[in-house]
Order: sequence, then structure tokens, then C-alpha cells
Amino acid sequence: MQPKHRGQWATNLGFILAAAGSAVGLGNIWKFPGKVGENGGAAFIIVYLAIVLILGYTVMLTELTVGRATQKNTVGAFRQLDRRFTWIGVLGVITGFFVLSYYSVVGGWVMKYIVTYLTGGDFGLSHEGYFNQFIAKIGEPVGWHLLFMAIVVLVVLKGVSGGIEKVGKVFMPALFLFLILIAIRSLTLDGAQEGIRFLLRPDFSSLGVKGFAAALGQAFFSLSLGMGVMCTYGSYLPKNENLSKSALIICGLDSLVALISAAAIIPAVFSTGADLGMGSGFAFISLPGIFEKMPAGYFFGLLFFIMLFFAALTSAISILEGTVAFISEEFRIKRATAAIASAAAMALAGIGYSLASGAVNLRAPWFDFVNGWHMISLATWMELLTDNLLMPLGGLAFCIFAGWMWGVKNAVAEVEQGGKFKFYLKTMFSVSLKYICPAAIVIILFFTVGLGIG
Ligand code: PFF
Repeated sequence: MQPKHRGQWATNLGFILAAAGSAVGLGNIWKFPGKVGENGGAAFIIVYLAIVLILGYTVMLTELTVGRATQKNTVGAFRQLDRRFTWIGVLGVITGFFVLSYYSVVGGWVMKYIVTYLTGGDFGLSHEGYFNQFIAKIGEPVGWHLLFMAIVVLVVLKGVSGGIEKVGKVFMPALFLFLILIAIRSLTLDGAQEGIRFLLRPDFSSLGVKGFAAALGQAFFSLSLGMGVMCTYGSYLPKNENLSKSALIICGLDSLVALISAAAIIPAVFSTGADLGMGSGFAFISLPGIFEKMPAGYFFGLLFFIMLFFAALTSAISILEGTVAFISEEFRIKRATAAIASAAAMALAGIGYSLASGAVNLRAPWFDFVNGWHMISLATWMELLTDNLLMPLGGLAFCIFAGWMWGVKNAVAEVEQGGKFKFYLKTMFSVSLKYICPAAIVIILFFTVGLGIG
């Protein structure tokens, strides 16, 4: 029986934008251009797009299908289909817990930068000094993190169609527009050609196993896969939704935003001679420096961080919704209580990430075959654990379950309820779900752990 109060998307476009809003996030704008820079430019992009098409599309469609078939939160979905696999849903909720706790800290940094721009854009003597001093404080980054989390909770409290769908419908088109403006600015800078060449000329020699592992982790993170969030969003869909087409559009939009972000950021980096370094420093240190040097840079800097805020918010909302759906439906607790309680727990874990990013030397044990057990920063630990381990593991579990237990036939039948499943897509999905996805994920996971790739 369906609980009467269960939310549903009001429109098909609203669902697509909300799902794309989940996918398009810090991963596309903050992480993707850096990974492209680190792993040989065009070669990485080619491998990344192939992984999105063959593996990402399959897992995306599988998650949406499991959700739509059961009309339940991820844990409830597995319980209904096969009780023995309930743990896959639980694993997703645990992963979501870690992801949102650190995601919200970075969301807080973004808000701090918006305010810095709005109050004159004064970064003091150096951008690096500004960022490092900021994250080394105890109270201020934590305060921004809590504020970001509070905004996420407010949207989720408004419900599926009343909050999440409405925010997606406004923020996603705005984000797209801002991104295109920034890309045009960047591509027309003097000296941008070198960056454009880097994006178009593949150099496979600098890719290696590390490049493949990075592309897989990035694809899962960017498409919001492996933690049941897309399964939850799929559960709010009516039976007449064309799932195979929707999954294609969501994967396409997400990749498009990633590509435009790379086109917006990499030529600017080349043109100003900045370092294409990775990680948090890239968006918060190099980019403000780049904006400062370009004409109308203040305006584009502000636009960039507002856009990053939109991207981060719609993704964070989706993660919290996954957990809220689980808690409220499985334990029959009010949505509001579930949202506030789970966000509070995640916020607490986020404080650990925030402190470990600068203020305090918090470390956690990590294992890889090269170094054995060793201690790494808690901040790195949380990102490695989720992006490189838990999310691919969750995706693998979804594939093995849907491909071998529930069965490709059932999955395809559910997809076909909503409209035509084109023959070539159906064939690719069926083969990929059962064989290619599990094998590829296992191989890449093995190398990730084996080589200690972070
Ligand atoms: N896809 C988001 C990004 O690219 O930033 C992050 C994310 C959202 C990951 C939701 C996982 C998820 F369930």
C-alpha cells in the first residue's frame, strides 16, 4: 500500500530538472575541470564520456527503474523486491550521510565567497592566504556550513513538488545561463587557444590506470549514483514516464555542464598562466585569482560563486531527500522530524570535516595495498571513502541485484511501461547491466584499492 502522503513530481520537466539538479553540482564545476587538467585533457574527457554512456547510463536507469517499480524509498524498495538485499539501500543511506556532511561544508565556503564578492571582493594580499586563513578558523567555516545545511532542510521541508521541484525549475536554467556567460568570457580571453587545444587534442599517454579510476569515481559522483538518490527520485514518478529517455537526458545534461565548465575554466587557467592544481584550492584559490586578472572579473567571479551555490544546493537537497524518505517511511516518522534529525547528525559529522580541512589535524586510518594501513587526513578520508569506494560499491550492488536477482527482464518490463525503449538502448542496457558494469566496476575498484589511488 502507498502511504497517502507520498510526494510525486508535478511535471515531467520538473522531475528532469530536479534530477539534473542532483547530478549537476560541485562535482561538475569544482571537481571535473581539475580532473581533466590532471589526467591529460581530451583523453580523459573521451574515457569519461564513454564511462558515462556505458556504465553511468545503465546504473542511472537501473536506479530510476527500481524506484519507480516499487514507489518506495531505497531501503523500502529493496525490502519489497527481495528482503535479502535491504542492505544495499542501507549502504546508500550511509554513503549519503558522509557525502552530505562534507558537501555542506564546501557549500558553506561557497556562501562565504559570495558574501566576500558582494562586500567588495577584497581578498587581501593573496588568494591562497585568504582561503587558508579562512578554513583554518574554527567557528566561521562551521557557521557557514550550518547555514548551508539549514537552507537544504528548509527546501526539503517544503516537499517534493512544493520545494525540490520548484527550486530545480528556477536554479537549473539560471545556472546554465551563468555558466555559458562565464564560458564565453573565458574562451575569448587572450591566450585561451592553448587551453582549447588541450581540451581537444587527446594525449592517452598521461592517462593510465589512474585516469580510468578517476574517470569512474568522477562519473558516479557526478551522476549522483550508487547511493539510492536517483532511486528515491524515480519513486516519485508516475508509470507513464519514459524512463529510458529521461535517464539519457539527465546523463546528457550533466555531461554537458561538466564539459562547459571545463571549457570555461581551463582556457582561463592557461591564459593567465595559473596552475591547474586540484582540490579545494582550485575553485577557491586559483579561480578568484583568475577572475581578478580578467576584464569584468569581479562580475564574473560573483556570477561563478552564485552558480556554484545553485549547483551545490540542488545536489545537497537530493541527498537529504534520500535519507528523509527512508527515515520517514520506514520508521513512520513525520517528514519534518526526519529532515531535522538527519540533517543535524550530518551537520555534526560535517564539523569534523570542516575542522580537519584546516583548523585541527584530525586523521583516520586508511588501507591500500601499496602502503598497507596508514593515517590520512579525515577530510581526504571522507572523500576517498565515498567517491572512490562506497559509491562505486553501491552502483555495483545495484547492478548485480537488478541484473542477476531481480532480473534484466523485470527491469526492462518496468522501463517499457512508460513508453518505447529504443532497441539499441535496450540492448546496451541489458548487456551492460548484467556483464559490463559489474566487471568494469570490480576491475577499477580493485586498481583503486590496489594502487592506493586517491
Ligand atoms: N552529483 C553531485 C555533484 O556532481 O556534485 C553530487 C552528488 C549528489 C552525489 C547526490 C551523490 C548524490 F546522491
